[in-house]
Amino acid sequence: MEEVEYKFYTFLNPTQVELKSAFIKWLLSEYNVSTGSQIVDMGCGPGSMLVALNGLGYKVTGYEPYQPFFEAAKQLENTDIEITKGGFLDIKGVDTYGAIMAINGPFSYLQSINERKMAIELSYNALDHGGVLFLDNPNFPWILKHYREPLETKFHIDGIEAIRKPVHKIDFHQCTWIHTDHFSFVKEGDAHEISTEHHLAMIQLPEIYSHLNAIGFKNIKTFNSYESRIDEPINSSRMMIAAQK
Ligand SMILES: C[S@@+](CC[C@H](N)C(=O)[O-])C[C@H]1O[C@@H](n2cnc3c(N)ncnc32)[C@H](O)[C@@H]1O
Repeated sequence: MEEVEYKFYTFLNPTQVELKSAFIKWLLSEYNVSTGSQIVDMGCGPGSMLVALNGLGYKVTGYEPYQPFFEAAKQLENTDIEITKGGFLDIKGVDTYGAIMAINGPFSYLQSINERKMAIELSYNALDHGGVLFLDNPNFPWILKHYREPLETKFHIDGIEAIRKPVHKIDFHQCTWIHTDHFSFVKEGDAHEISTEHHLAMIQLPEIYSHLNAIGFKNIKTFNSYESRIDEPINSSRMMIAAQK
């Protein structure tokens, strides 16, 4: 079933690879991160951005803690792309990377303030001088103000006919957003059901600023989308933040 899960993920979350790599190319050149350096795709998922990041001229290390996604990403390994099992709290190296990029929410999987503080400290240590940390997270205050119930969808992929029923819940005590996807699908004539659950910390931007400033990051910039090319106040469903060591 794990192969099915990553197929569903890839199909339902089109990565917009070109849009994102154009932004990343621009961002890293703004911060003078030279091509040829080693960068991290933190929480790379099944690896949708690895080849594109390598195509920008960087050597890429993908970190991914979730076994089915790790296995999918591992298949993309070559001399310029390596994959490590783990996440933010497993990052190794001192003064090593030109950039650490967390695209589409990996930082929100860190559940406590202490874990997030530690993740930012470990990232700071692992970055080379002048290196850039980039965090792209959902902006929950905006999402709550504009909330709409998620819709059920039917889709077909590789001969599999599937229905996805997403459900959102909020744990007000832990301050987490719980996104559950229930999938019912028919594969080779047999009916199956699987559920996946994502617990996302409802992080607010001032907390991230506080960790970045405390460890010594500078040149902090914020963006609302991958179309942006200017440092701007956050006012959308995403909060994207970049900072330099
Ligand atoms: C929404 S996916 C984004 C995947 C990929 N970056 C993309 O753009 O398609 C979030 C990813 O973060 C990973 N993740 C979960 N916990 C993490 C952690 N502690 N550190 C880094 N990544 C984590 C998940 O396994 C998942 O692959």
